[in-house]
Amino acid sequence: MAAPTLTFPSGFIWGASTAAHQIEGNNVSSDWWAREQNPNSDLKEPSGDASDSYNRYEEDIKLLADAGLTMYRFSIEWARIEPEEGFFSPAQRLHYRRMIDVCHKYGVEPMVTLNHMTLPLWFAKEGGWLRDDSTDLFGRYVEYLLPILQDVHWICTINEPNMVALTRGGTVGSDFVASSLPAPDPVISANLVKAHKKARQVLAALPDAKTGWTIACQAFHAAPGCEQEMLEYQYPREDYFTEAGAGDDFIGVQAYLRTFIGKDGPLPVADDAERTLTGWEYFPPAIGIATRHTWEVGKHTPLFVTENGLATNDDTRRVDYTFDALGGLREAMEEGIDVRGYLHWSLLDNYEWGSFKPTFGLIAWDPETFERRPKPSLSWLGECSRTQQVVH
Ligand code: NOJ
Repeated sequence: MAAPTLTFPSGFIWGASTAAHQIEGNNVSSDWWAREQNPNSDLKEPSGDASDSYNRYEEDIKLLADAGLTMYRFSIEWARIEPEEGFFSPAQRLHYRRMIDVCHKYGVEPMVTLNHMTLPLWFAKEGGWLRDDSTDLFGRYVEYLLPILQDVHWICTINEPNMVALTRGGTVGSDFVASSLPAPDPVISANLVKAHKKARQVLAALPDAKTGWTIACQAFHAAPGCEQEMLEYQYPREDYFTEAGAGDDFIGVQAYLRTFIGKDGPLPVADDAERTLTGWEYFPPAIGIATRHTWEVGKHTPLFVTENGLATNDDTRRVDYTFDALGGLREAMEEGIDVRGYLHWSLLDNYEWGSFKPTFGLIAWDPETFERRPKPSLSWLGECSRTQQVVH
């Protein structure tokens, strides 16, 4: 029997994503670093050298390119660019410029995220996104970056603002249990929307950049009779932010899992469900479902899958999951949904907000030498990119 094949339209973009704090190492001026160093830290382990990608980014980008992928999404670390309030570091800005240059050198299109979860410690200490002037401070940082972004075509302002609002500026650890999360903070939610709009305004000075933000989506399902509860649960945690992105150049869809909403909120994962290393249910249809939902709520704004993947030690399962996820995505596209590309989370095994154990990467690395060890899933995804055919 012939292997199942999916065909994607020419021009559909394939790549992988990362975030600064999770791969660079030694992000010492950030709020998350301070949280890791606290002797009473709630986190299992600190990020330390992480994947040492601050030093090895060229090797990482080359591996991505050699596999056949053509886009690399990475983030600029605000805590490095502005380690003290009002003190901007030209050397750090040059570092990120070199990353953009290296992408171009290998024929890779950079997608640059301006803020991925972590904050400069000074900003977080003084209230972070609760501050009235958070919009202006973020806008000033984005303005400082303009000179290095002149030839960048894809920019995400803020990553997963809905998770940021839900966790009050932090993010969730790998033991994330939806039911234990508080409601999103309304002031943080509103300030994030303002900061996003401000950043888009500043970025409008760029000659040719598409700008948007990336939303943490889930496949939400209502338990029987709980349709209303589901809407009430989902709106402030997701749709509020998707609505705010309607009309942008694109909305980034990030989805991994599904959640059932019952009378009292999220229900636990079923006992017999297959789980990944984050404890999440193995559920490849999540991205297709989230794409359809975001298309409606985002009023037909073009979409980009900016993250999708799973934490596993079994790389064949990574390929299984991704194949099925892409099947759901392809079906959504066949219904007329405008999806520009697919970026896998993640290029590298990395620091999953408290632990290195949940390995999401297409590339592993030696913990002592940092030597890169590409997994078979990297070449598999690269082949999808080269051929626009997904075969399993
Ligand atoms: C969403 C976040 O953007 C990223 O930082 C995180 O590692 C992945 N999802 C997996 O949890």
